[in-house]
Amino acid sequence: MGADCKSAGSAFSGSNPLPTTNMSNLEIETAARALSAGAVVAFPTETVYGLGVDAENPEAVARMYAIKGRPANHPVIVHIAAVKDVSYWASELPEYAKQLAERFWPGPLTLLLRRTHGAKDFITGNQEIVGLRIPAHPMALELLIKFRELGGHGIAAPSANRFGAVSPTSAAHVKSDIGSLLKDGDLILDGGECAVGVESTIVDCTHSLPRILRLGAITEAMISEISPIDPDEVLAEIRVSGSLSRHYSPRARVVVDRDPLAGEGLIALAEIATPIGVHRLAEPRTVEEFARSLYSALRAADAAQLKIVVVNLPSGEGLAAAIRDRITRASAIG
Ligand code: TXA
Ligand code: MG
Repeated sequence: MGADCKSAGSAFSGSNPLPTTNMSNLEIETAARALSAGAVVAFPTETVYGLGVDAENPEAVARMYAIKGRPANHPVIVHIAAVKDVSYWASELPEYAKQLAERFWPGPLTLLLRRTHGAKDFITGNQEIVGLRIPAHPMALELLIKFRELGGHGIAAPSANRFGAVSPTSAAHVKSDIGSLLKDGDLILDGGECAVGVESTIVDCTHSLPRILRLGAITEAMISEISPIDPDEVLAEIRVSGSLSRHYSPRARVVVDRDPLAGEGLIALAEIATPIGVHRLAEPRTVEEFARSLYSALRAADAAQLKIVVVNLPSGEGLAAAIRDRITRASAIG
């Protein structure tokens, strides 16, 4: 990592999934000021770590895209502090979207809405749509509130990994992925391990019914309690990079639902035994734990220089479906 890049947090929460606020107000204030000055601040959310910049600063957004290695025509989620901030970025909030926001924010849900002039092309990928989310991690919320006190309107943040790779669920992951690309004044905030572990559910709210573009911890069942869901599959006209067929990939080849051979990695529920000679990477007891440990386990496969990692997909709807979606993309060839 860059010599001047530092982690503003201290203790690491280890296996404790709950976010820890081990940071003083002064340190959050420093991070908010850094954002206002155009710096890059990686910060924890309940899903994965984000690579944050002032969503209205074109140079800062360009630097963030360069660090991430993401094509400039891909849009980025704007993280906001409160529901009342939606109107700065979005020109229309359908009734069902308002209810989704009220019910699930702060939380792992991103709403795609028609943009105002506040949402510039450089964060929407030249589309007429802006993606908004209020994250639930206390450190992210404090950062957003302090940033707003300084006059900011939102923090643009993709997952803090290099484009196409596995999202980071700890500050250590962020440091190893992009630490060397940060410069003096940039920061990585350490809020422990992410409680959810897979990226937010993305819901397109620009039509008469909500459409789910990316599965996550806010499930189809939860959304359909508020509104019927448009049955159409992913919209071709909206670019969602997380919907590319190959994404979320480690270097190791990911293979699903076959018996692992000696020397290969295995990620599976705890009830599945580890054959002799197989490198067990995670043995979660629940689907929630599966999601939480998935990306660390994929990274552990790379750290151990495994060539193949076998994943036994969890069955069922909700978060299990989100895990299957990510693993299917991680295992795509090409
Ligand atoms: O949980 C999450 O969503 C994390 C945390 C940091 O909030 N963020 C995240 O960002 O996963 P990213 O950029 O890695 O994935 C966000 C997805 C991308 O596929 C992007 O194309 C899509 O959301 N997206 C963002 N804004 C959009 C927009 N205006 N229109 C269409 N898709 C959008
Ligand atoms: Mg991402």
